[in-house]
Amino acid sequence: MIRNYGYWLLAILLVLVAIGLIWVELSQKVARSPVEPQSLVTTFKGDPKTSRAFTWHTGDTKGKAVLQVVKGTSEISFEGDEVLVFQGSTTTLEVDKGIFHSVHKVEASGLEPGTTYMYRAGDGSGEGWSEPAAFKTEAQNTGSFTFINVTDSQGIKEQDFDLWGKTLNKAFDIFPEAAFIVHNGDLTEYPEDEEAWRHFFDKARPWVRSYPLMPVTGNHEQVDKNADRFVSHFDLPANGSASSITGTSYSFDYGPVHVVVLNTESKAKDQAQWLRSDLEASDKKWIIAAIHRPAYGGSQDESVLKRWVPVFDEFGVDLVLQGHNHEYSRSYPLKEGKIVESGGTVYATVNTSGPKFNEKKDDQYYHQVHFQNINQMFAGIHIEEDRLTYKAYDVDGKLLDEFILKH
Ligand SMILES: [Fe+2]
Repeated sequence: MIRNYGYWLLAILLVLVAIGLIWVELSQKVARSPVEPQSLVTTFKGDPKTSRAFTWHTGDTKGKAVLQVVKGTSEISFEGDEVLVFQGSTTTLEVDKGIFHSVHKVEASGLEPGTTYMYRAGDGSGEGWSEPAAFKTEAQNTGSFTFINVTDSQGIKEQDFDLWGKTLNKAFDIFPEAAFIVHNGDLTEYPEDEEAWRHFFDKARPWVRSYPLMPVTGNHEQVDKNADRFVSHFDLPANGSASSITGTSYSFDYGPVHVVVLNTESKAKDQAQWLRSDLEASDKKWIIAAIHRPAYGGSQDESVLKRWVPVFDEFGVDLVLQGHNHEYSRSYPLKEGKIVESGGTVYATVNTSGPKFNEKKDDQYYHQVHFQNINQMFAGIHIEEDRLTYKAYDVDGKLLDEFILKH
């Protein structure tokens, strides 16, 4: 009799475990409904004063790309005449063997400068809208602003991206006024791993759904001349070098700053030509370049040094943001490879926002500050009239480097 009770208990336990497993399976399926927008991110594409771009993936829904936008933040309703509706493009991408995603890209345009909007993204079916989120267009006359610089989040597992999420949380804690983020490349370790991309966007969800994430192409984004996954996740200015993959080199303006993003992974010579014409056409007071492999960062990329640095020198680029080295470095102001008293270009690499740290490289003549603190870092760059202030912090909020550039 006692033995029979034992069997019954075991049987009940097994049934409970089975129910539990089915429940977990079902709840995961619900959470990953095919129409639910995944990896939703906002970027600048057109004029930041009047437009804003959005990109997201869904399961293979064949649905449309629909964005609803409404002015203000309180008592928001997405029903009614004041709701702006934008349609974009949907393409299909094989993300794993036999598994397809729909890639949705929409640009909201005709917006008012300096205005806060709420939006939601969906596939037009009326189901599975994204949670509403806010964004603010650039003010008409932006004299001063701040942006955040991070690099090499480069995770594999979900926990790796917790580090990246924490880094951005602290960055926005210290720079709540930041207008956008520049990420200097190597966002994930394996670009074909879509799960990693999902973690990358999920862990930074409050930030990347509202503040433009302007990415640089790293050696983990463009591999063997292919940057399909990177391109599928960002809707970026299409004004770059003609021979580069669209979205891997581009430029944009914000306030008194011209930001130019270059792709170190191919076609450096063609981009040098484009860079020259891009900078010639700019009348902005400040020029900031963003590249992945560094010119002056402990390791030196030969084609960057040979092709781009002469153009940086010629046009007096103020600051070059770099990645790739997974350590912190900041150069003296340099011109033609020499340290200069005034003018010159400062080259900064803000360690990593992810799990991987390299051993500190040998000190070089051009290093003004150079260390490996083995902790995630970010920088806040504030521009105000004739002054640029750069502050680099670790993820715990400790200020580790600071400098000022003047015009
Ligand atoms: Fe890297």
